[in-house]
Amino acid sequence: MIEKFLSRSEHETREIARQFAACLQEGDILLLTGRLGAGKTVFMRGITEFFMCSEQLSSPTFSLFNIYEGELEGKPVSLHHFDLYRIESPRELEAIGFDEYLDSGYISVVEWGERFPEYASRYTVQVSLEYAGDESRCLVIKRLSA
Ligand SMILES: Nc1ncnc2c1ncn2[C@@H]1O[C@H](COP(=O)(O)OP(=O)(O)OP(=O)(O)O)[C@@H](O)[C@H]1O
Ligand SMILES: [Mg+2]
Repeated sequence: MIEKFLSRSEHETREIARQFAACLQEGDILLLTGRLGAGKTVFMRGITEFFMCSEQLSSPTFSLFNIYEGELEGKPVSLHHFDLYRIESPRELEAIGFDEYLDSGYISVVEWGERFPEYASRYTVQVSLEYAGDESRCLVIKRLSA
């Protein structure tokens, strides 16, 4: 299943992400792709808004891994957010326990995951964001497995 959207602002990207997040399920592992500044972290922010996560103190930009605690219909939901931009080797990724986190059954969201093709089969959804102008982005959401 593939869905395409045109976003004309950061606000619209967050709105698309909030609507998309409604179909996420526990155990989903989401790959966010797109160049630097494409809006991957903005999209993640929209997901955290949907689950009403409390504000994170550390900025995802400077951090490899954050856990957000939110809720859906009164039930607690944990979101694991990874940014693998600065990870240099599969061994380093293994050392932080990436694999175990993915197996945790929570919802995981991964930026720059395509740098490590050995994990390609783990992702259940891919969201790619492409520049389509200064403030415009083309978003393609693809369900990779049921
Ligand atoms: N339509 C849009 N959607 C999302 N972000 C937009 C849009 N238009 C402009 N922006 C701006 O682009 C930037 C996107 O930054 P963001 O940190 O989300 O990118 P990123 O893909 O996570 O980059 P990085 O690879 O560095 O982590 C923000 O400054 C945001 O305000
Ligand atoms: Mg980012």
